[in-house]
Amino acid sequence: MIDIEAVRADTPGCRHVIHFNNAGASLMPDPVFAAVVEHLELERNIGGYEAAKQASGELEQFYTNFARLLGAQPDEIAYVENATRAWDMAFYSLPLGKGDRVLTHDSEYVSNYLALLQQAQRRGFEIDLVPSDAHGQVDVDAMADMIRPATKLIALTHVPTQGGLVNPAAAVGRLAREHGLFYLLDACQSVGQLPLDVKELGCHMLSGTGRKFLRGPRGTGFLYVSREVTEQLDPPFIDLHSALWTEEQSFEFLPGAKRFENWECYVAGRLGLARAVRYALDIGIEVIEQRVKALATRLRARLGELPDLTVHDLGEETCGIVTFRCASEPAGDVAARLHAAGINVSTTTRAAARLDFGRRDLDQLVRASVHYYNTENEIDRFIEMFAG
Ligand SMILES: Cc1ncc(COP(=O)(O)O)c(C=O)c1O
Repeated sequence: MIDIEAVRADTPGCRHVIHFNNAGASLMPDPVFAAVVEHLELERNIGGYEAAKQASGELEQFYTNFARLLGAQPDEIAYVENATRAWDMAFYSLPLGKGDRVLTHDSEYVSNYLALLQQAQRRGFEIDLVPSDAHGQVDVDAMADMIRPATKLIALTHVPTQGGLVNPAAAVGRLAREHGLFYLLDACQSVGQLPLDVKELGCHMLSGTGRKFLRGPRGTGFLYVSREVTEQLDPPFIDLHSALWTEEQSFEFLPGAKRFENWECYVAGRLGLARAVRYALDIGIEVIEQRVKALATRLRARLGELPDLTVHDLGEETCGIVTFRCASEPAGDVAARLHAAGINVSTTTRAAARLDFGRRDLDQLVRASVHYYNTENEIDRFIEMFAG
């Protein structure tokens, strides 16, 4: 059980807004905020390099905390400034060339798909889109049938930005292992709301951000890269932190995932994110999942009862993201009206989900995303905004 009063007392934002935009950026809890601000103060008082040196022990906890969260080893974790760059660092490192094939799905995140398109044009590989099954999630059997000798990579988004769907990521992982394919999983929207174990998921690379369900600061993210594949990857960028200049004309990448980092980074943010991971672990990811799913299920059911609204989440398993459309009011207007009443949501548009929304003939949805610190009472107040 989560002590809701305690976590809300830790979250001053709860006193000002009904925050149903956790898939955008969650409200930071006080210990995370304090970790960031205290380090900024230290930087102001003693100097940035000196402050980092003083915080070196806590900075190491970034790796150990994420290792615990993901069932990984600390040397398989890299700090990256956001989920997109984390995903890019893994993807652009992969040995993909002319004639190779990449499997992905309509739910793939917009920036990932843009990178796939750019690199397909530049490197000459082909993108194969796996169809959805009857639930709207990636069809694992169809994926198995589409694997050919030229298939090298599966790129999958665990939870898409545009809906409550949870893709069967572990089943895909088993397939990837069976066929010896690289497997890159975007866990940006699942980390912090669902338990993730990289061994169970079977992924070689997993990317995520700090500010969403992990409740960390903005401008922070991470990348997991399995020891199994690190040596096969050639990072697209290099600097004095990721590599050693061994001789005048030679260099070596650092062992482990540090080769995907860069030297200059948001140290206070990294400390804040390390703290956010500990905060989530202290509560327990399994209980977080239960609470988030229960709140979202309740919200979906209540919205579904309203005559003017249709809920659009796909998937056999759903999570804390709830998407819906109002027949009489455009999504942007709904979001603005809610915002004026102190309720935060976001909208999701076709331009950010062309494959998925194109196939479902959708233009815009309201996205209301709940976290464990939200309450049943907040859901009631949210529903009242659509009454009458
Ligand atoms: C599924 C998914 N992947 C990746 C991203 C990108 O994250 P970031 O903005 O931290 O780069 C998002 C952001 O909304 C997302 O929803």
